Amino acid sequence: MTAEIVERVRRSNRYRDVDPALVERLAAEELPRSRSAEDAVKRVKRRLHQAVGAFRASLPADGDPVAAMRGHASTRERLPSIESFYAGIWAITGPPRSIMDLGCGLNPLALRWMGLAPAVRYVAIDADERPLAIVRAHLAASGHQHDVRRGDLAREVPGDEVDVALLLKLVTTLDRQDPDAATRLLRGLRARHAVVSFTTRSLGGRDRGMERTNRERMDRLVTDAGRVSAVAEASVTGELVFVLTLDPLDG
Ligand SMILES: C[S@@+](CC[C@H](N)C(=O)[O-])C[C@H]1O[C@@H](n2cnc3c(N)ncnc32)[C@H](O)[C@@H]1O
Repeated sequence: MTAEIVERVRRSNRYRDVDPALVERLAAEELPRSRSAEDAVKRVKRRLHQAVGAFRASLPADGDPVAAMRGHASTRERLPSIESFYAGIWAITGPPRSIMDLGCGLNPLALRWMGLAPAVRYVAIDADERPLAIVRAHLAASGHQHDVRRGDLAREVPGDEVDVALLLKLVTTLDRQDPDAATRLLRGLRARHAVVSFTTRSLGGRDRGMERTNRERMDRLVTDAGRVSAVAEASVTGELVFVLTLDPLDG
């Protein structure tokens, strides 16, 4: 039955590029709550809209990165402060030699504002192939060593060894899918630093209630991760940004 739901959801043009593992997980969760197969398909699509669909807006197939980033809700919000955004992060982590961008969306298109050395390796992972296709072309043109791949981060913790893992505006999205997913990631990442961010903008502008909730969420995540040795803040207008130093994993 789950297989049938997955197959029906992936038949739709909108969701055929989403990681099958993510669709499968949502189908398995929604099926017991559903009245019929039809209802299950609807529920899974609703969940997929929250997880990936809502961020797509209008993705152009190619063209200049600024235009593409304006089309992607989360990167658009960051554009006005893009240079100081990354300078502030590297000031804490030191210049990275490798980056893993988790739930990357179109963020890797900001590469030219990141001020990275040409030898920096860039790993980009998202559940949605739509932005990844654009990201793959962009990183190939940049000359940086790269690996762009689809994956369900609520299920798997990527094992790549990197200096900095970016979890930009990802925790809120993952929390809606599985409240333990972000903790699992922070516990298992082979990264020296993890950068975790939250939007502080509601549709109507800056939202102080939302900011407080996100700071509390961050505190809990730091405690639950159990391997954070330092927390520094590198927030910019519209985005709360925390730079964590992680203890190395044993073995
Ligand atoms: C709010 S956007 C943030 C994009 C980017 N990190 C940024 O800040 O510009 C959330 C991203 O997470 C991706 N995503 C959602 N659920 C995911 C999952 N389970 N595994 C991997 N990526 C996921 C979405 O496709 C989307 O690109």
